[in-house]
Amino acid sequence: MKAILINNYGGPDVLQLKEVDTPYITDPYQVLVKVRATSVNPLDYQVRRGDYASLFDLPIITGHDVAGEVFEVGEKAKKWRPGDKVYYSPRFGGVGSYAEYHLTDETSLSRMPANLSFEEAAAVPLIGGTVWEMLATRANLKKGETILILGGAGGVGTLAIQIAKSLGAFVYTTGQSILHEKLQDLGADVVIDHHEKNIIEEIQAHTKGKGVDVIIDTVGGSTLSDSPLALANYGRIVTLVDISQPQNLIHAWEKNATYHFVFTRQSRDELHHITELIETGQVKPVIDGIYPLEDVKKAHQRIEEVKRERPLFGKIVLSV
Ligand SMILES: NC(=O)c1ccc[n+]([C@@H]2O[C@H](COP(=O)([O-])OP(=O)(O)OC[C@H]3O[C@@H](n4cnc5c(N)ncnc54)[C@H](OP(=O)(O)O)[C@@H]3O)[C@@H](O)[C@H]2O)c1
Repeated sequence: MKAILINNYGGPDVLQLKEVDTPYITDPYQVLVKVRATSVNPLDYQVRRGDYASLFDLPIITGHDVAGEVFEVGEKAKKWRPGDKVYYSPRFGGVGSYAEYHLTDETSLSRMPANLSFEEAAAVPLIGGTVWEMLATRANLKKGETILILGGAGGVGTLAIQIAKSLGAFVYTTGQSILHEKLQDLGADVVIDHHEKNIIEEIQAHTKGKGVDVIIDTVGGSTLSDSPLALANYGRIVTLVDISQPQNLIHAWEKNATYHFVFTRQSRDELHHITELIETGQVKPVIDGIYPLEDVKKAHQRIEEVKRERPLFGKIVLSV
């Protein structure tokens, strides 16, 4: 089968299209899936750069989203049949999805939403599970509450805006001016251009000094120490981003804040909620662009570019 192999860590050039052996079922509960589409997550370029080198032995195949069809099932994998359309996030640390076939356990699979193409479905699993974990499980976001989603135009942000709205929240988000209309179309009530304005001052002004109930951090940097200044008393901050520097959390203490740290490993249970929201028309994957698997280097360059003529909006998908 065709696969994108990483033989050594580095820039996009280390992603090499190769012919490798197709995996085969060795355990009766396994399922072999024909990958029809996958996507690019920041986790993929972090793995490619070697950020998780201690967890892998080279060469590796990365990729954390699959939309495809069941090709073959182990004799005890009773829930699935060849031809079933499935989507899921491969287990972190195992073989990834940048390939024509992917071998997995039957328990990791979810039925693909009936109203999505493979490309649309591939944009969902990793971020879908992550966003549900952040908003529903950890922040326990309730109808009528206010939320600030930092990084609204990214893969996580575009989904988080829609899900926060479906849960009945008033949504503040950040994004470049050129994207404001698109972010409002997703359900954002107020969009702040983080390149032009001070986010904390804007939130303070909009909420008349009260702050928001929940802050979702997809950005990192000094967000953990600074964002409590935009938080209401007893508010919750949920972060996805690892913290490279020590942070002073005095402002969080002043607000009686709660922090939640999220690192998604695999998200099958959370994905059921997202499937329901997609099939009832409340959520739609947002796709920045679709590239053939062979153009994976260009796809990685697109997500990693810091200065973009055209800002990123949603997910980058690889068609297999
Ligand atoms: N822990 C987990 O389980 C988990 C799961 C999924 C993702 N993540 C992490 O979450 C982060 C976001 O993922 P993603 O898929 O959404 O990434 P993405 O698609 O690359 O989007 C990042 C977004 O953040 C915006 N941004 C960057 N700096 C900003 C700032 N200072 N203030 C406000 N917005 C800013 C960017 O907008 P501009 O282009 O305008 O700067 C862009 O829209 C990544 O670091 C990823 O590794 C973690």
